Amino acid sequence: MNSKPRLLTGLQSSGDLHIGNYFGALKPFVDTYEKYDSFLMVADYHALTSLKDAEVLRENVKNAVRDYLAVGVDPEKAVIFRQSDLSEHTELAWVFDCLVSVPFLQQAHAYKDKVAKGLEANAGLFTYPMLMAADILLYDTDVVPVGEDQRQHIEYAREAAAKFNHVYGQTFKEPKEMILKGVGVVPGTDGQKMSKSYGNTIPLFGSKDDISKAVMSIVTDSSGEHPEHVYAIHSLFKPKEELDTIYGINRGNYKMLKEMLIEDIEGVLSPMREARESITDDEVARVLSGGAEKARAVASAKMEVVRHAVGVR
Ligand code: TYM
Repeated sequence: MNSKPRLLTGLQSSGDLHIGNYFGALKPFVDTYEKYDSFLMVADYHALTSLKDAEVLRENVKNAVRDYLAVGVDPEKAVIFRQSDLSEHTELAWVFDCLVSVPFLQQAHAYKDKVAKGLEANAGLFTYPMLMAADILLYDTDVVPVGEDQRQHIEYAREAAAKFNHVYGQTFKEPKEMILKGVGVVPGTDGQKMSKSYGNTIPLFGSKDDISKAVMSIVTDSSGEHPEHVYAIHSLFKPKEELDTIYGINRGNYKMLKEMLIEDIEGVLSPMREARESITDDEVARVLSGGAEKARAVASAKMEVVRHAVGVR
């Protein structure tokens, strides 16, 4: 019996990770996961809400596992698994779909944003928060390290748990988010939240060239007095006191400041990039099959309880 509290997080395998994903979710996971009974998931069914290319999705899943290992997650100390390996996730999501109302789901930011842009949301995007609730609640998760943009989704998970417990009796724990100050919203090269959909990312595992291009594109003003966006990203890599000195001495010299930023990013990312190169497909396959087995032990027992509670068994 494991007495440590449980930690779980997931990342969509919808494309390459950026430093927002790293500082907002992966690094907080890596920094704390040994204190918990930890699970790290590749959310491939969530990626399906936006990605419609089977080959790309398959590659993304492998890459996600490589990324998790390269940032320092030890598969012996955390369960690394793929969402689609456990049909319990989609099964429980259905149960939650049948409990919550349409107006409740209509309040979800991801769905609202899509509709506000005049785009058509698929039904998967609409019910997305209930799949995420299932991911979390199946494992009796205590803590979920995420970026600020996922706060509402953790609230949805708590609501789903409370609704289920109210209707069928105490079954699920209500999880808490872990959102760290200063990295909840990592800004992109234009100062908005870093996000693939805004095209303002700095890749986590890009080449030095990719990183340089992204850093050189950080938006600055022509007066030379306002390097806020460069500074904001730089502060993820260097302590504030050091930065204030550097930015004081090099006031207005954007080129110099950006070059320093590139070197500081390289200092942090290049060892992880090197570690990633040596991870083989076999290792990835082993991690996923071991992870699925450990995750299944927890998820299938929980789902059995749920099936009985709702009356399909
Ligand atoms: P996703 O894949 O969009 O993002 C993965 C994680 O990265 C964080 N993040 C950021 N943090 C700070 N600043 C940013 N600019 C930034 N951009 C992204 C996100 O907050 C997230 O923590 N629905 C989730 C995936 C998911 C999940 C789960 C998470 C599925 N099931 C269960 C936790 C538990 C998502 O789409 O994250």
